[in-house]
Amino acid sequence: MDHLVEAARNVRERAHAPFSGFKVGAAIEDEHGRVFTGCNVENATYGLSVCAERSAVLKAISEGGGRLKRIAVVADSEVLTPPCGACRQILWEFCGDSELILANLSGKQETLSLKQIFPRPFDASFL
Ligand code: THU
Repeated sequence: MDHLVEAARNVRERAHAPFSGFKVGAAIEDEHGRVFTGCNVENATYGLSVCAERSAVLKAISEGGGRLKRIAVVADSEVLTPPCGACRQILWEFCGDSELILANLSGKQETLSLKQIFPRPFDASFL
């Protein structure tokens, strides 16, 4: 198994998802091969919940990660779980058109580019 998928699968176990019951893990690899992981962390207010992907990006940035190159997202869903709209925007900001691996617990896996699921992004090039 790709070590990035394995890292996402492992961190998924730490998800704090008592409200949805839907645990997600994400792992991001930088240009130096460093891996930053994140899980979804829900809140009783619901709206303050943080997705796994954003959690991983924030850790990568705050821990001094280099250029972010690859992302893996793991959830226990038959149809592979893609990043939500807000996470696509955040991933675009820091990862650009990176490789995105979606996987589930049964070993189903798909590799996409972020651009495929986020085709006309707004970013700093407009400012
Ligand atoms: N969630 C993620 O962490 N990442 C995704 O890609 C989709 C959704 C979380 C948010 C919330 O905690 C739970 O899954 C149900 O939406």
